[in-house]
Amino acid sequence: MATIDVDTLKAAHHATWAAGDYAAIAELIDEIPPAHLLDRVGVEHDATLLDVATGTGNVALRAAAAGAAVVGLDLTPELFETARLRAQALGVDIEWVEGDAEDLPFADASFDRVVSAFGIQFAPRHAVVAAELARVCRPGGAVGLCNWTPEGKVGELFSIMSRYLPPAPAYASPPPLWGDEAHVRELFADADVELAFERATTPFRFQSAEHYASFFETNYGPTLKARERLTAEGSWDACRAEIVEMMERRNVATDGSLDVPGEYLIVVARKNG
Ligand SMILES: C[S@@+](CC[C@H](N)C(=O)[O-])C[C@H]1O[C@@H](n2cnc3c(N)ncnc32)[C@H](O)[C@@H]1O
Repeated sequence: MATIDVDTLKAAHHATWAAGDYAAIAELIDEIPPAHLLDRVGVEHDATLLDVATGTGNVALRAAAAGAAVVGLDLTPELFETARLRAQALGVDIEWVEGDAEDLPFADASFDRVVSAFGIQFAPRHAVVAAELARVCRPGGAVGLCNWTPEGKVGELFSIMSRYLPPAPAYASPPPLWGDEAHVRELFADADVELAFERATTPFRFQSAEHYASFFETNYGPTLKARERLTAEGSWDACRAEIVEMMERRNVATDGSLDVPGEYLIVVARKNG
């Protein structure tokens, strides 16, 4: 099978993240990770901050509420509809920009802080993204990332789905690799930054593993697209059963419901200068 080119892959990514209801998924991760990320990267009043792959604005909104001058960028402008409503409800002003993490439409050293929560890890060429994040961050500023780890629940979800789906093109690295410290060190090896890492979890709470599977296959673009394709190919039932098994195995609830910790890695890259 011919390898798809990067523009075609990005168009597919755009369609994936516009599918379902990403806003409903973002609500699940709006408490702990964005607050943790902004605390570690530090956001001073009037600091300029770029939230890359902002989605419906979880991190951007919090940073703006803390007094930063915020730009939210995403490949999927459909998500800005919700982001704009949220900003209006919160009474904050944010600039929303359609764009690609691999080709940020900003001059060098434009921002005091460049952040992303579970966002840039979905762009295909990790080294290109790392160079772009470091480029638009000013010397003395910081890049802050919150990335699902390969060992965590989201990492395993992608690992299960990838065993049923066609292989990604060779130039595209798996998203959960951004949750691996050694990989991130390599990506920033040529940038003049000091790196710090921290692992933490955020809970995924549902009535049951079955409830989780049905919520994700309906609302979460990557799982919804996998369901559509694998249903046509006859392998969705097997893939879904693995997802349900994974969630039951990771369940820490003691009251008969579902509570699965989702592990993430906080990366802070302070730029020297
Ligand atoms: C899991 S969502 C995270 C959104 C948000 N940061 C949050 O915490 O809810 C992944 C986001 O990455 C965006 N994305 C994927 N590839 C991208 C790229 N190459 N450039 C910019 N955004 C991208 C998607 O459109 C989607 O909004």
